[in-house]
Amino acid sequence: MATSPFIIVAIDGGAASGKSSSSRTLSDRFDLLHVDTGSFYRALTAEMLRRGVRPDDLAALQSALADIKLSTRLRGRSAEMEINGRVAGDEIRSREVNDAVSPFAAIPELRSALLAYQRGLAGVAREKGFRGLVMEGRDIGSVIFPQADFRFFLHADAGERERRRAGQGLHDQIRERDRIDSSRKTSPLTCSDGATSINTTHVTLDQVVEQMAAAIATRLPPA
Ligand code: DC
Repeated sequence: MATSPFIIVAIDGGAASGKSSSSRTLSDRFDLLHVDTGSFYRALTAEMLRRGVRPDDLAALQSALADIKLSTRLRGRSAEMEINGRVAGDEIRSREVNDAVSPFAAIPELRSALLAYQRGLAGVAREKGFRGLVMEGRDIGSVIFPQADFRFFLHADAGERERRRAGQGLHDQIRERDRIDSSRKTSPLTCSDGATSINTTHVTLDQVVEQMAAAIATRLPPA
């Protein structure tokens, strides 16, 4: 009997480009472990703020990182990251964290603290019996899983993305975060070679998901 392949789907894009909704839907449809790496950067940022570490104080940042152990807890089909045994709460969506996350995410030492952890989640997905992994972020197709089976890059006009965030009742410095995320030296937000670029400005979320799902279904039948 042929066994199903284990597939890795990478979804990258700027803030409010549609990554979260589409990756959650694909996770449900194909029984893939869902991983929102933005929440990891947010959780580490909240932890640094809690410890009073500033992004320009590398020594303090490194000593805080040395004191942090990362582990994983599953919530439904999503992987949540524990920092010293605790999953961060709603504070990761606060204005304070929103404003600080891009400067922290630009620090190579902080990114490398997350690199092996993120790659290791493929093993967690296999161990827990998922048929694959869908990971969303900024550098998944370019750095974390450049060999992913499917690599999608979502983008949309900034005005439309601001309307989406406002519709969710959230304050977000979308343009400023994208500027910092795209211009940093380490793992910038970019559509990597060979990734499928999808403009989500004028299409519905359903249409975006169907385009991705049709590609994935060529390798893996829906669950
Ligand atoms: O997806 P999000 O908006 O929650 O991500 C928050 C920030 O985390 C984003 O502005 C940049 C950073 N990030 C990153 O640098 N690399 C990733 N793979 C995911 C997020």
